[in-house]
Amino acid sequence: MIETMRPDVLGCHQCALRSQAHQVVFGEGNAMARLVFIGEGPGMEEDRQGRPFVGAAGQLLDKMLAAIGMTRFEHVYILNVVKCRPPQNRTPLPEEVASCLPHLKRQLDILDPLIIVLLGATPTRTLLDPQVRITQARGRWVYRDNRWWMPTFHPAALLRRPEWKRSVWSDLKLVLDKYRQLIDPDHDSPYYPVHR
Ligand code: URA
Repeated sequence: MIETMRPDVLGCHQCALRSQAHQVVFGEGNAMARLVFIGEGPGMEEDRQGRPFVGAAGQLLDKMLAAIGMTRFEHVYILNVVKCRPPQNRTPLPEEVASCLPHLKRQLDILDPLIIVLLGATPTRTLLDPQVRITQARGRWVYRDNRWWMPTFHPAALLRRPEWKRSVWSDLKLVLDKYRQLIDPDHDSPYYPVHR
């Protein structure tokens, strides 16, 4: 059970981020879900509430999930690369990512997802390829360690660049195809119905 590791993560002081954050953001969702979304790290609202993706980017993520017929507590689990908010929402430093990575790896070991959506450059570089450019990597499946990995743009990037939404919708349709192949062939969605 993923909850058994929550106390370890909440008690972590492995890097300097913890001393400036209000609280540690563990992640949330359905612990039985085999589809996981991974972001970069908590922002101001996440730091306030102790929950992932609850600010403006999170509201967009919820809408993206709704478009593929999903909700965060039923179909997915939501994680971040770093569990404490970086000051001024800066990108986490390599040493902060390295300190936090054992938590993320353990969460993935326990959840054992079949499909992982990487939201933006930070999770994609951390988990797939340190050199990667998200504009090149997005929309292409990587099959590794018995899991299917799909990089796409981060929802916060879509708030700044709405013209990227079309690409993310195409990536989400690939995710939904894979979800139907591997997890639930009958999963329905309002904008991309099951082909019968
Ligand atoms: N952005 C992230 O990457 N993660 C969150 O939890 C919120 C915003």
